[in-house]
Amino acid sequence: MTILVTGGAGFIGSNFIFHMLGKYPEYRVICLDKLTYAGNLSTLAPVMENPNFRFVKLDICDREGVYQLFEEEHPDVVVNFAAESHVDRSIENPEVFLQTNILGTQVLMDACRKYGITRYHQVSTDEVYGDLPLDRPDLLFTEETPIHTSSPYSASKAAADLLVMAYHRTYGLPVTISRCSNNYGPYHFPEKLIPLMIANALADKPLPVYGEGLNVRDWLYVEDHCKAIDLIIHKGRAGEVYNIGGHNEMRNIDIVKLICKALGKPESLITYVTDRKGHDMRYAIDPTKIHTELGWLPETMFADGIQKTIQWYLDNKTWWQTIISGEYQDYYEKMYANR
Ligand code: NAD
Ligand code: TYD
Repeated sequence: MTILVTGGAGFIGSNFIFHMLGKYPEYRVICLDKLTYAGNLSTLAPVMENPNFRFVKLDICDREGVYQLFEEEHPDVVVNFAAESHVDRSIENPEVFLQTNILGTQVLMDACRKYGITRYHQVSTDEVYGDLPLDRPDLLFTEETPIHTSSPYSASKAAADLLVMAYHRTYGLPVTISRCSNNYGPYHFPEKLIPLMIANALADKPLPVYGEGLNVRDWLYVEDHCKAIDLIIHKGRAGEVYNIGGHNEMRNIDIVKLICKALGKPESLITYVTDRKGHDMRYAIDPTKIHTELGWLPETMFADGIQKTIQWYLDNKTWWQTIISGEYQDYYEKMYANR
């Protein structure tokens, strides 16, 4: 079995590669990644010498390059993590989101049609469902919830999902889609809430909470997401969407306070800043389908997962300090100065 993992030098893709190479020593795993600002080759250092692993620097929008790679490797399964993934960046500059997230997905699926695969899996997000009100805790996203996007990021992911389903219906491509809630864990890029707050708190810098910090996200430990995708590509039904989430809703402000406490830092570092435009209020996943059909359940409880994550950032300072010392400084200045 040969699995092509796109975007494997990013947060979730790298964790997925570690999971697959660890669990299936007989599988060959090819990682295709453009190495944008969010991709880090150093993340893949632990598997670079593995004879069953190959890294290829490539843009998923590069049709010729993608076809060439399919000719060389003939992957059985493609798992597409490659994407522009940060909502705030999509608000500043939507274009690259449309290119990579939509057109890149099309190129990959065209290659799958041309060379043949047993499964194309699209890693999507709960953000395609839009948001839920804070005062209706009974409402959760199911696979039947209508697509209703808020940001250029979520709109691009939703467009890709529709295209994936169109390729299934029109060409019979054996596809699956997973829509997961917010992930956290090792190798999470420091522009996102949890690693950003850990890095800033460790440097005694202000902790920029958007609006009043009351927005709710449904947090899942990244390893649990990887295990869910592993199940879907092996046992999931073609043409189906699977929601993934762990019933773990938390307000942003409570996460930030928890990080302060765990690191022994004062809550006075918390600074309320101008809210994100179009900010989604609440995400909450109903994972009944993947539980009943595939037997998936989250294994890491938030209290344990967040401690493990904080410890990982304490133990791997070189990884994230190298990232935030580069062009990230300009990004941070642009997004947060005078906010
Ligand atoms: P990430 O930003 O950490 O990593 C994205 C990776 O894709 C990077 O390695 C980057 O170099 C690569 N990439 C970007 N454009 C590319 C291109 N044109 N060609 C090839 N490679 C390219 O993102 P992540 O958080 O690991 O998210 C992975 C996937 O999971 C995305 O599709 C995202 O929409 C989805 N997702 C993320 C979350 C989350 O909480 N992070 C939740 C649900 C779904
Ligand atoms: P983020 O990690 O960007 O994920 P997403 O927008 O995909 O859910 O943000 C998580 C939540 O944290 C979201 O409600 C926005 C908020 N947030 C802040 O309050 N401050 C920050 O500096 C960042 C990056 C996010």
